Amino acid sequence: MNNNLPWLHIKNATVYRADYKVFDRLNLSVKNGQHTAILGPNGAGKSTLLKLITRELYPRVEEDSMISIMGSTRPLLSDIRTHIGMVSQDLQNNYLHHVTGLDIVISGLHGSIGLWKHQTITAEQSAKATTVLDQLGILHLADRRFIEMSTGQQRFCLLGRAIVHEPDHYILDEPTSGLDLRATFEYLDRIRELAQRGKTLLLVTHHIHEIPPEVERVVFLKEGQLIKDDAKDALLNNNELSQLFDTPIEIEQRNGFYQAFPS
Ligand SMILES: Nc1ncnc2c1ncn2[C@@H]1O[C@H](COP(=O)(O)OP(=O)(O)OP(=O)(O)O)[C@@H](O)[C@H]1O
Ligand SMILES: [Mg+2]
Repeated sequence: MNNNLPWLHIKNATVYRADYKVFDRLNLSVKNGQHTAILGPNGAGKSTLLKLITRELYPRVEEDSMISIMGSTRPLLSDIRTHIGMVSQDLQNNYLHHVTGLDIVISGLHGSIGLWKHQTITAEQSAKATTVLDQLGILHLADRRFIEMSTGQQRFCLLGRAIVHEPDHYILDEPTSGLDLRATFEYLDRIRELAQRGKTLLLVTHHIHEIPPEVERVVFLKEGQLIKDDAKDALLNNNELSQLFDTPIEIEQRNGFYQAFPS
């Protein structure tokens, strides 16, 4: 992987959701291997930004505007699904109720939501998905249907779906929401391992405790504007975070992780 090339380049993107203008000429570039956290309060535009990358939303067509993903301004959806692993609340909300734990993970190999009759599942795919369930400690969920799982169990199956095809990039939207402490720590271990193996993490969140130590760059998003973009140490401090969230915050750091407290 060439670490100098941006895998994501957004130039002058204006994005509407219904009548609401979320971004007005947004610019953001992320290099291969540059683990990045985008932090911002509720409604800042974080999930909208990720939907631009997964092509669930498109910017307004303008001459000097473009989005390039993995070097292409018109990437195929199938390429995006193959090369980007995604975990988000939206995916969880929209996932199909009847799909079992094993099939959720296998669906990651097909880039689909759920599995359908026309899709051929090979023994090799089943074995691979079973291994992932086992590694995540959720083999007991293999036959359980999505609707019959707890929130955290659903989230872990979706993490399995995101990693089973070993994509180079991971897009994580508040990934530990709904996970208990043990599951959060297990998830973080897993994500750190991916980062250390050269995969690129792009995390959007308002929970600073889910920022893995491997993240080096932090971007602040507020009311649809990228207001700060700097090294993590320069932004994860009392002053900067209090301004971002418009409330007094105190930060503590331990072993590369951060935790926020009311000040
Ligand atoms: N379908 C929609 N129609 C109109 N406005 C929308 C729609 N979806 C989102 N918005 C608005 O777009 C803005 C950005 O929403 P987005 O979901 O990207 O925020 P977010 O940063 O992910 O927030 P959160 O931390 O709550 O998840 C918000 O003001 C929201 O109200
Ligand atoms: Mg969101």
